[in-house]
Amino acid sequence: MNSLDDRDHWVGLLHPDGREDHGSPHTGWCWVYKGYDPAEEPLREALCTLGNGRFATRGALPEAAPHAEHHYPGTYAAGLYNRLTSHVAGRDVENEDMVNLPDWLPLRFRPLDEGGVDDAVGEDRGDWPWMSPDTCEVSDYRQTLDLRAGTLLREMLLRDRRGRAVRVYQTRFVHMGDPQYAALRTEFRAEGWSGTLEVESAIEGDVTNSGVARYRALDGRHLTDHRAGHTDDGLLWLTCRTRHSDVHVAVAARTTVIAPEGTGPDYRVGDRDVAQTVRLDLADGVPVAVEKTVTLHTTHDPAISDPLDACLHGLRTAPVLDDLLVDHHTAWERLWQRAELHVPGLAGCILRLHLFHVLQTLSPHTASLDVGVPARGLHGEAYRGHVFWDEIFVLPYLNLHFPEVSRSLLMYRYRRLGRAVESAAEAGRRGAMFPWQSGSDGREETQTLHLNPRSGRWLPDFSRLQHHVGSAIAYNVWRYGRTTGDLSFLHGPGAEMVLQVARFWGDLAQWDADRSAYRLRGVVGPDEYHEAYPDSDRPGIDDNAYTNVTAAWVLSFALELHRELPEPRRGELADQLALSPEELERWEDVSRRLYVPWYRGVIDQFEGYGRLAELDWEGYREKYGDIRRLDRLLEAEGDSVNNYQASKQADVLMLGYLFPPDQLAALFERLGHHLDPGTWRRTVDHYLARTSGGSTLSSLVHAWVTARTHRAQAWRFSREALIGDVADIQGGTTPEGIHLGAMAGTLDLVQRGLTGLEATDQVLRLDPAPLPFLSHFDLSITFRGHWGVRLSLEGGRLRVTVPDSAQRSLPLQIDGHRVHITPGDTHTLQLPQPHEET
Ligand code: BGC
Repeated sequence: MNSLDDRDHWVGLLHPDGREDHGSPHTGWCWVYKGYDPAEEPLREALCTLGNGRFATRGALPEAAPHAEHHYPGTYAAGLYNRLTSHVAGRDVENEDMVNLPDWLPLRFRPLDEGGVDDAVGEDRGDWPWMSPDTCEVSDYRQTLDLRAGTLLREMLLRDRRGRAVRVYQTRFVHMGDPQYAALRTEFRAEGWSGTLEVESAIEGDVTNSGVARYRALDGRHLTDHRAGHTDDGLLWLTCRTRHSDVHVAVAARTTVIAPEGTGPDYRVGDRDVAQTVRLDLADGVPVAVEKTVTLHTTHDPAISDPLDACLHGLRTAPVLDDLLVDHHTAWERLWQRAELHVPGLAGCILRLHLFHVLQTLSPHTASLDVGVPARGLHGEAYRGHVFWDEIFVLPYLNLHFPEVSRSLLMYRYRRLGRAVESAAEAGRRGAMFPWQSGSDGREETQTLHLNPRSGRWLPDFSRLQHHVGSAIAYNVWRYGRTTGDLSFLHGPGAEMVLQVARFWGDLAQWDADRSAYRLRGVVGPDEYHEAYPDSDRPGIDDNAYTNVTAAWVLSFALELHRELPEPRRGELADQLALSPEELERWEDVSRRLYVPWYRGVIDQFEGYGRLAELDWEGYREKYGDIRRLDRLLEAEGDSVNNYQASKQADVLMLGYLFPPDQLAALFERLGHHLDPGTWRRTVDHYLARTSGGSTLSSLVHAWVTARTHRAQAWRFSREALIGDVADIQGGTTPEGIHLGAMAGTLDLVQRGLTGLEATDQVLRLDPAPLPFLSHFDLSITFRGHWGVRLSLEGGRLRVTVPDSAQRSLPLQIDGHRVHITPGDTHTLQLPQPHEET
């Protein structure tokens, strides 16, 4: 099935009115795959990843042969990176990657005959003598991701060439309560025969980072110094360390046969793996279960002596698997309570899947780690586990449920503020220049060359000029501070970051006497396509409207924050940062006079964008079908996307995502421009027609913006954002990792986009813009000490319920009125009928 058919399939299933979606196996809390198709495995593996915010494991088959085509087991620990140098295109290139760790999954099985393995397997022995859907006849195959329970269930009937059928039920989980554990329970049942089943449980340490085809020319061997063994009490263990960052890793496993006991175990200790084998006497139709409990530790972990010791201790003190599972369920139950979101139909089921993956990547456990928001989750190796600006799509969601997680993600940035100040200084600038791609220590990790898989050419990569990432960090500090009221953060680390980002913009801005304005030159905007002017050797473009407007916003927020700081803290920071009144005056001036380019009545994406050639969109669509990666298509043709008014993703329109209409208009006013609704609408039209959607973030932003300007088009974009990963609409990218920003963004689209929820210091503001297809939802948020505030929309009525507590009443502003809801009360509001567009 190619990706376009796949997309059409999903479009057919997803109904705009949220009615029950016949034909979709995915309902309610269960994400169900029926049948086995090896070609689909990479996507299923990514979407069935299980994790707990500390580590995650892809949904690969435990019985598959190592390194087999279509299977890519991967286990990744949050924030565990290693740096390697590779030689490509005549150059040494250094990359830091989130490391693929030893695989704890392997569990293989095969029937034996009287004579033992060799005789028994005889003609069945191919490259892979064990039973698997790849080597056997397979029926009744069903794989279910149970979102409520946080488990992955598999059921299948395998029949080998001698006709021996084994029915398998398998449950796995990565423990959400105690994040050192993972477990796999497998039940075998012989059907129509009795005899011996050999089962091998292993830890495989011979793993590399090779999950992304276009990175395969690069060195992916991150692990070294493997050691393996087993203990007297039957625990398997394997240790190794990363080659450069020298993080030590240990994985251990206890495998138990639940009655009737088998014979064995026998152990096999290899250079990079370790295994234990048991032989089970199967009687026709009688189930036998094998339970594998696993622990994983690294030298990054707090409160351990050494990783191996911690792993063995964890196993020796672990409850039995059934009890572990009960605790795991309880932990998930608590998470779901804090992040409730009900939307009817398949859309709701997809939203829940998105929430599940967001929580598996960024859970309450994340709050005690030094990690950022990995753009592709802990689900695959695309973008090397790096942290981009995507937290701007994630934190606003988390702020209203898990503020402690948001705070820790912001602290990841704060700990790297020193490095960002160094980067700015190296570039001859003051303040903080945060990296476009960040990893372990906050240096710039963006590759200098990237491969265009279409042309096979390695090309220079200037995406590091996306300095707007600094504004995203300041924006997240602002939103977090205003939503939670956490002044210790806002006035502490938050203020320091905001002032340093402001200082960078204040310093970078150059006065242009001809234009009577300040300019920011040589940057790249969120639309990554444009990295230079046509035929220019100078990297970057000038005055990207998004960058300039958000920089102006950062400067004015920095001034506001500076004014509101308690006097002693203001003095402390003035001293520490050598902040002078002159510098603050300059910020004030720059914040009002940064240049905003316009072209023919709409905001111009950057200076000169409007004068670039128009692309023949229809012609290209006809020629290539999917033109999301127009940059690669044009480069392969010997042309360049720099020549055209063609954007990869929402750029100017991001402004409508960040700021509600009144705030955006005020921001433009401050910059000396009048942005009325008509002008904004024309600007939206202009860019919708010129954006290829080469990033999953694009449809999300377009959905958000059109919900208030072009309601008739909003469903198309919302649907695109919803199916982005489940249908892998970017054609093969989801198997390399989910798109965390887009997933969290769809949740926030319902939570804030459609409710117009704005948390300010004094009040929770609502400005609902329900869409016909998302006109029924129920969600709960945590706001300033009020846990579980419920917002329900149904039949055009919005109900806000504040749970009983000792808190003061919740001030709510809606439709120009302010009401105070006493804990224990509900406020109901009939929404006006929206005007339907023609
Ligand atoms: C997008 C960026 C995003 C990155 C990581 C790129 O394709 O253009 O905006 O930050 O992916 O998700």
